[in-house]
Formats: sequence, structure tokens, C-alpha cells
Amino acid sequence: MNVLLTGGAGYIGSHTAVTLINAGINIVIADNFSNSSPKVLDRIAEITGKRPEFVEVDFCDKAATDALFESHSFDGVIHFAGLKAVGESCRQPIRYYRNNLDSTLTLLEAMAKYNVKRLVFSSSATVYGDQPAPLTESTPTGNCSNPYGWTKYMIEQILKGACDADPELSVVLLRYFNPLGAHESGKIGENPNGIPNNLMPYISQVAVGKLEKLHIFGNDYDTPDGTGVRDYIHVVDLAQGHLDALHYAEKRTGCDVFNLGTGKGYSVLDMVKTFSRVNGVEVPYVIDPRRPGDLATVYADPKKAETVLGWTAKRNLEDMCRDSWNWQSHNPQGY
Ligand code: NAD
Ligand code: UFG
Repeated sequence: MNVLLTGGAGYIGSHTAVTLINAGINIVIADNFSNSSPKVLDRIAEITGKRPEFVEVDFCDKAATDALFESHSFDGVIHFAGLKAVGESCRQPIRYYRNNLDSTLTLLEAMAKYNVKRLVFSSSATVYGDQPAPLTESTPTGNCSNPYGWTKYMIEQILKGACDADPELSVVLLRYFNPLGAHESGKIGENPNGIPNNLMPYISQVAVGKLEKLHIFGNDYDTPDGTGVRDYIHVVDLAQGHLDALHYAEKRTGCDVFNLGTGKGYSVLDMVKTFSRVNGVEVPYVIDPRRPGDLATVYADPKKAETVLGWTAKRNLEDMCRDSWNWQSHNPQGY
């Protein structure tokens, strides 16, 4: 099988690249490096012993996207490419809508033109908006609290429409919960630009001494210890979900959707305590006011992925904390 990974140089894409190569799948990574480094390709080669083919492409560029499809024969596409920072999307909404929607539409036109019929898409739990947990795939979507979330919601609608119109098309929407951790080698991991927005990279950078202390956003939520509760999922488990989704997409047509989460919720204080205990490092913190737009509790019902894809998360919170720290401590400045 020959599979295109758009945005494959990024955090989740690079881990999926390793899983696919190890499964004997031939991959081509295409990325514009707007939020990633070319060094990822060396690291994937170090881990797998195989350097993936890479093509520099901006998927908003129709000519470049067509040239990629003209020169390759793909059996399927995993579409990771997109901008993903929630706060930035509120400050630069048009850039987010332009990049995330345009790249997807351009990709879909090229897939139609070159007769590629299988797509796995990186969606997000953010499409559920403010709904009570556990979230199932039939929980209503929409009511997103930021432009980033709306791009995911809109792309889901576009992909459903594309499947309605083309009975040969097979699309799998994967709604990720909160990915963290890194490959156990410590050679690839999350490499955020500037000060991290997300919890685990912030904790890791405090532990490594790059940041002074963690700011916990609120301890007055209606949760067991008052801090926000999320469903954290190891990125290597997430990567396996993409392989399973690809195989599923081969056997069927139409648009289907799966939550990828563990089904367990952990609070911010659970994360800090587990990270400190597992890694033997201090994570000083202060309690700050709530962050606007944050929800108290978000976690998945992951049963559908287990029943239909045969996928479950295998790694626990200790694995996630250990592997995040292994990556961060060996790569304190990122790539
Ligand atoms: P990432 O930023 O590490 O990876 C995205 C990659 O896409 C980057 O390498 C970037 O350079 C590339 N890219 C962006 N726009 C592009 C374009 N127009 N053309 C070509 N390449 C482009 O992010 P990630 O964490 O690996 O996330 C991958 C996907 O999963 C994204 O679509 C993201 O929205 C989604 N997602 C991520 C999370 C998360 O918490 N990490 C949660 C839910 C969903
Ligand atoms: N938090 C802090 N301090 C920080 C960062 C986060 O206390 O410095 C808290 C948040 O308040 C929240 C929890 O840690 O309770 C997790 O926050 P993240 O920013 O790591 O993750 P979110 O749940 O806010 O959002 C993430 C991604 C979104 C994605 C969503 C899917 O950033 O893109 O998960 O559930 F849509």
C-alpha cells in the first residue's frame, strides 16, 4: 500500500509514519514545514532504518498538489496538515480558515482528479463543543468555542458531502482527544514553537528548567480536585489508530467517525503529580484564574473504535509522562 501523509513531518504525523513504516506500508510525507522541522525525517530514518520519501508541498497550492499526485500513485491519504493552536486561531481566524479549509479542498480535488478513494482525517474532540462526558460519536457536534474548532467541524461536513456525492469514496474521521507522549526512543516528540499552550509540553519545559512554573488554569471546576479533567492519549496509540483506520477504509465506502481516546479522565493535578513521581522531577505550579473557553471535563467513550476497528489505547498515564520526559530531557531545545 502506498500512502500519502499530508503534514507528516508534524507531531502526530511523524509518529504515524513510524508505525506505518514498521507495518511495511510505503509512505510519502508531504509538508510545508510551517510547524515542523526537516530533521524529523532523519529521526524517522534512525528509528525505522528507512528514510521516507519527502516532498515539500503547501496543500493550499493547487499546482504543487496536482504535481504531487501526477508523479505518484497513492492508495490512500492521511490528512494531518493543518494549523492547530486554539488561541492563535482566535487572533488569526482568517489565516486558520484559509489554511485548513483551502488545503483540504485542494487535496480533495486532487484525489478526485487522480482517482484516490481513501482518506483518514485528523479531526478533534473540540467538534463536540460543550457537551457532557463521556462523548460518543453520536453526541451532537458544533457550538465550537474557537475558529480552529470550527475548521474541524466544517471539514467534517465537507467530507460527509464528498462521500454522499461519490459512492466509491471512503473517509474515516478520527476525533482525537488530548495526544501526548512520544516515541519510546526519545528521537521524535512534540516540538511546539514558542511558549507551549498545551499542558504536557508546558509541564516538560518547567521540569527541564526552560520555564519557571506551571500556571494551572483554575481549581474551582466541578471536578474531584477542582482542576480541569481531560482524556490524555499516548501518541503511539493514536498512531496505531491510523493504521487500523486505513485498513478499515480499504474494506468499505462512505464516511465513518471514531473517537480516539482512553475513556479515562485525569485532572491537571493528577498530571503534575504523576509526571513528578514517574520521572523524579519537581514541577512547581501556581493556581491562576480559569482560561477563557476551557471546559471542566472532557473524555471519550472509545467503545466504537474498539468494536469496529479493533483498536484500544494500550499505554497508561505513567507511560505518557515517562515518554514525554524522555523526549524533552534528551531534546531540551526541540529538534
Ligand atoms: P503539527 O503542527 O505538529 O503537524 C501539522 C503539520 O502540518 C505540520 O508539520 C505543518 O508544517 C503541516 N502543515 C500545516 N499546514 C500545511 C499546509 N497548508 N500544507 C502542508 N503542510 C501543512 O500538529 P499535530 O499535533 O501533529 O496535529 C496533526 C493534526 O491533528 C492537525 O490537523 C491537528 O489539527 C489535529 N489534531 C491535533 C491535536 C493535538 O492536540 N495535537 C488534537 C486534535 C486534532
Ligand atoms: N492547562 C493548565 N495550564 C496550562 C495548559 C493547560 O492548567 O499551561 C489545563 C487546561 O486548563 C485544561 C488542561 O490543562 O484543563 C488541558 O489543556 P490543553 O491546552 O493541553 O488541552 P485542551 O483540552 O484545552 O485542548 C486540546 C488541544 C485542542 C483539541 C483538544 C481536544 O489543544 O486542539 O485538546 O480535546 F481540540
